Amino acid sequence: MKKIILDCDPGHDDALAMMLAIASQDIELLAVTTSVGNQTPQKTLKNAMRLLTLMKQQNIPVAGGNQKPLLNELIIADNVHGESGLDGAVLPEPDFKAQDMTAIELIAKTLQESKELITLVVTGPMTNAALFLAVYPELKTKIEQIVFMGGAMGLGNWAPSVEFNIFVDPHAAKMVLGSGIPIVMVPLNVTHKAQILKSEIAKIHEIGNPVADVFAGLLDFFERYHEDPKWGFKGAPLHDPCTIAWLIDPTIFQEKFLNVEVEVDGALTQGETVVDYYDLSYRQKNCKVLLDIDRDAFIKMLMDALKTFHSQ
Ligand code: BDR
Ligand code: CA
Repeated sequence: MKKIILDCDPGHDDALAMMLAIASQDIELLAVTTSVGNQTPQKTLKNAMRLLTLMKQQNIPVAGGNQKPLLNELIIADNVHGESGLDGAVLPEPDFKAQDMTAIELIAKTLQESKELITLVVTGPMTNAALFLAVYPELKTKIEQIVFMGGAMGLGNWAPSVEFNIFVDPHAAKMVLGSGIPIVMVPLNVTHKAQILKSEIAKIHEIGNPVADVFAGLLDFFERYHEDPKWGFKGAPLHDPCTIAWLIDPTIFQEKFLNVEVEVDGALTQGETVVDYYDLSYRQKNCKVLLDIDRDAFIKMLMDALKTFHSQ
């Protein structure tokens, strides 16, 4: 059983990552912390709590994170995720309280109380992870690995060569990638292959439980943004749940251990992840980079997960 903390900015695909973690028999979700990114800090925290209320997981502690990226000004992706951050479905209001502590305090407490190493999964900008490492360096050894969705090899979805999560807080990403902790990177190159088709979303509508109904609505909304022909997609790329899918079954991915650095200065490229695929720089390899995904197996995993909520 893998013990994880999920640091997220829900966000449609963050919601799917949380759902997959909750449904999995192989994963124990110990805590949820929220970051700024897809929406404001107030909204991402509320959305995480709404999702946990929907999935009847109010026992999982939640805490909100930093109000803005480390150095850059806050930007949000309301063009992708809507005014609420989870547009497209009606979610319940939270019926429990967030922890009376910050995200990094909750991460520290969770690590201190665990006898086993814990995986930190980051599906938003890495502000909380970087701050945590700066404030609690002595707890670094309690982290088994950091699995993050972000970055790309030669692709971008917010600037020509920059992925959104790293664009929002490149300085935090640089700190995390330089931390010496084992890192797994889930880049756009893989998540753009993890597309869900309209016909598959229609099947989610047919599952017929309250959780699946909400996710079907969320996916309808998320899919519409990606219909713009400029992307050349057949469906919607499900970025964030790829992190959890890799923890559940790494055999459906291909991966390579590489050096990855974050550009923080470039006028056109701030936030670009520079992935040294051919080891041209001889810099120390610091990151397991996912390269490919078995899309059909991934979609089946999500469908099966959504069906487990039948009885609730
Ligand atoms: C990432 O950006 C966000 O909009 C998504 O939730 C995902 O984490 C993809 O670039
Ligand atoms: Ca996200």
